[in-house]
Amino acid sequence: MSLPQHVAIIMDGNGRWAQQRNKPRTFGHIKGARIAKKIITACSDKGLKNLTLYAFSSENWLRPATEVLFLMNLLRRYLKKETENLVRQNIRFQTIGEIEKLPADIQTAIRYATDRTSKNTGLNLVFAISYGSRQEITTAVQRIAERIQQKELSVDQIDESLLHHELSTSSWPDPDLIIRTSGEHRLSNFLLWQAAYSEFYFCETLWPDFTVEDLEIALLNFIKRERRFGSISHHENTHH
Ligand code: IPE
Ligand code: IPE
Ligand code: MG
Repeated sequence: MSLPQHVAIIMDGNGRWAQQRNKPRTFGHIKGARIAKKIITACSDKGLKNLTLYAFSSENWLRPATEVLFLMNLLRRYLKKETENLVRQNIRFQTIGEIEKLPADIQTAIRYATDRTSKNTGLNLVFAISYGSRQEITTAVQRIAERIQQKELSVDQIDESLLHHELSTSSWPDPDLIIRTSGEHRLSNFLLWQAAYSEFYFCETLWPDFTVEDLEIALLNFIKRERRFGSISHHENTHH
């Protein structure tokens, strides 16, 4: 049984989970962070190579200031508490997104965690923080345009591979499997370019209720699928 090379998860439903319990949304974020830790460890133990977690979108800045502040505090605490655990688990930590928009001390903690785990050879763990795919693509286009202006590049040299290399995700393969919890069926500005041939798995479970078993169900579901990438069935191909 072969695991996907790269799993990406849109961890959604923390607020609704808390509201169902008559608790503030922040209560759901605390439980959600705990679940993220469990899923990271499970992916690492299974020998998965790449895991991207959508933690905070470029649009999440629009939430009430108190919720944003709470999420920043959670992230700060996570980095402080978990960096050494990541080292121990041989997990390499990296981020995508507009990190420069985060509070300065969190930027420092991210740089520290990234450097501290940079030699690790196990799971590549990517946190998408203040991440928006349109923003990412726009920046890539700006960089390419600049290189053309500097005459380093000609227009006919722009191809998919060049664009791929200007994206913040260029170090990893595209996600084979994108999981979104909480019954929402959309990308919400996550990995638009990279998801061209991703398989999608949606489940009703709210993120704070997501378990390692749910992850395994998603992985099994993925393994059974046939990916054709625009061609015809592999079976037809070999039999006729
Ligand atoms: C996902 O849960 C966590 C973040 C976006 C940070 P939500 O906070 O979006 O929870 P719902 O979707 O409102 O239930
Ligand atoms: C997407 O969830 C972002 C994260 C899970 C971090 P949202 O809850 O922000 O997405 P929408 O607003 O429902 O599309
Ligand atoms: Mg949501």
